[in-house]
Amino acid sequence: MSHSLTDRRTAFRRALRAWYSLQARPLPWREAPSLYKTVVSEFMLQQTQVKTVLPYFARWLAALPDFSALAAASEAQVLKLWEGLGYYSRARNLHRLAQAIVARSTPPRTPAEWRELPGVGPYTAAAITSIAFGAPAACVDGNVVRILARLTADGTVFRDSASAAKYFTPLAESLLPAAAPGDHNQAMMELGATVCMRQNPRCPTCPVRVFCVAARQRAPEALPRISAKPIERRKVTRVWCECNGTLLLHRAAAGAHRLANLHELPTAKQAGLAEDVTRRRPLLARKKRSITRFQITESIHAAPAPRGRHRPGLVWVPLEDLDLLSLSGPHRRWVREILAGRVP
Ligand code: ADE
Repeated sequence: MSHSLTDRRTAFRRALRAWYSLQARPLPWREAPSLYKTVVSEFMLQQTQVKTVLPYFARWLAALPDFSALAAASEAQVLKLWEGLGYYSRARNLHRLAQAIVARSTPPRTPAEWRELPGVGPYTAAAITSIAFGAPAACVDGNVVRILARLTADGTVFRDSASAAKYFTPLAESLLPAAAPGDHNQAMMELGATVCMRQNPRCPTCPVRVFCVAARQRAPEALPRISAKPIERRKVTRVWCECNGTLLLHRAAAGAHRLANLHELPTAKQAGLAEDVTRRRPLLARKKRSITRFQITESIHAAPAPRGRHRPGLVWVPLEDLDLLSLSGPHRRWVREILAGRVP
């Protein structure tokens, strides 16, 4: 019995690797790979798709080619290069990680040591150490969970994606080859991104279809089963205050969890204006966006400059200097739209 299981695992790895060596997308961090490229790409690829990351990765490597350049860069430059990618704590963690790496004589080589560094969870530690050092660590992200749940037709209902990842880690480890575990991990990611997709998986072209129980049952899309939290709707009222060619922005404090040091149009509250009064002012734009499970409707109203004492975080920025600052992605778009949409 155990002999045939071992044979099946070997056959699975071989089929996956043969497919990957023919089908792998030529991605810039796979050409002449280095530890630095691996780390930067893995940070950028957390919760972000490959096609979004590509232009950012190219600009980043041109501006900050190695760990020492990144460690010595200013936070303003780091945030500017990240502008529009979202989840800005990743940029600040990557910056601190580079400083920790250059402070050591050699970079750490094991997943456990990497997990002590800022912004590195189990998935990123496994990805970095398997790709850069051949460490025997299995990567288990959403893509891999999806593949493994379908391969085994496992209908377990999970509370969230982290518990699903934990559940499938032993299976992922049992499939990992001793030779070139980094290529195997990347092949799994590639399969999840280009074949075993969440919707409309391309089973007819799948290199490991013969091993897949869900494909045989013709029901892969229903797996994995992860209970979704209900969507929550929120309303945010923002102000557009313009005075003598300057625009009022709010700059999040350096220690802020999500947007540290990033500029946004202020909310009515941040500007010290009453919500209900602001909502009666002229509406310049109404925008809907989704962040994780929150569906947020933001209204931007033209408002007079707030009076009274100066409020923390508020800054007046000359319109011609807006491009020099870091704005969060949606705010950059809204400001451009509002400025472009009016009669000069
Ligand atoms: N997603 C996360 N890491 C990746 C990698 N190295 N290649 C492609 N997609 C990824």
